[in-house]
Amino acid sequence: MIEDPVLAQEWLPVCLSAELKEQLLKVTVAGEYVVVFRSEGGVHALKDVCVHRGAPLSLGKRKGDCIVCPYHGWEYDRGGQCVKIPQLDPARVIPPKAHTQAFGCEERYGLVWVRLLRSDGRFPIYPEVESGALRLHATMGPYGVKAAAPRLIENFLDVSHLAFLHEGYLGAPEHPYISDHDVHWIDGRGVSDDILIMQPNGDGRGREVQYRYVYEILSPVCVKFTKTDTETGDVVSIQLCVQPNEERRSAAYFLVTSNFDVDTQAFVSYQELIFKQDVEVLENQKPEELPLDLQLEMHLRSDRISIAYRSYLKERGVRWGVIYG
Ligand code: FES
Ligand SMILES: [Fe+2]
Repeated sequence: MIEDPVLAQEWLPVCLSAELKEQLLKVTVAGEYVVVFRSEGGVHALKDVCVHRGAPLSLGKRKGDCIVCPYHGWEYDRGGQCVKIPQLDPARVIPPKAHTQAFGCEERYGLVWVRLLRSDGRFPIYPEVESGALRLHATMGPYGVKAAAPRLIENFLDVSHLAFLHEGYLGAPEHPYISDHDVHWIDGRGVSDDILIMQPNGDGRGREVQYRYVYEILSPVCVKFTKTDTETGDVVSIQLCVQPNEERRSAAYFLVTSNFDVDTQAFVSYQELIFKQDVEVLENQKPEELPLDLQLEMHLRSDRISIAYRSYLKERGVRWGVIYG
């Protein structure tokens, strides 16, 4: 059931491309049960409910571009239309009502994405990967987290925790101050000013580096940062895309990119270590939902990006994983 029409209009990651092979895969996205499958025609997503007796189609079989329901064998094409009812006299026409909902489905950056409701909303493109300026080294995930999607996103955008929660890696308590910055809205994307951060070991290579960070808000559940080594010009950029499974249960995927060669396995392990530190806090924050009324928590100037994100969710009218007051 679609519980948040705003989130339902966004492209949401549902699994790694590599996970989706021959099988039918049941996924949960924004409270909706969806079956995704791959055929020669690409990737497809249908509501995981047969209109006959409500059996999950994901327990059935794939037949070419169609899914055969496990219960009585009705066959659905990739558009959700039932194209065969074995028990129906072949002379009779299949009633048009015999269809299940088909959702938008795309494959990109090593992920399968689903959009539950049609909209003008744009796909969260990674322009630097498209242009070749940055190389996508790994698509990491899914990392299941018992927390609301906006909590995960805000954590990723939170600059001032780096020196404490990630002490020794992404910051040092001796450098707690965050240079003044703002967020500017350009063509629907929130883009921060440059923020300078000294990091003792900011990319797993064990070197102290001063980075220039830029954060971007691409959608309510998709954000990224790009950090540039102020001396060498090395760039690391990571995009976080969250699959909101249930209101307080999410899966995180990271698109890891850079403009230099990396030891991918070492970089992934480093990123996992950092994220593990975040998850411990994320799964225990109170309230579980992100408070959008700015009076409900305390905010400093250094929380500018979080404030911009909360205001954006409010303006967009997101309902899932947030509280309004
Ligand atoms: S429940 Fe699917 S064919 Fe009967
Ligand atoms: Fe963090």
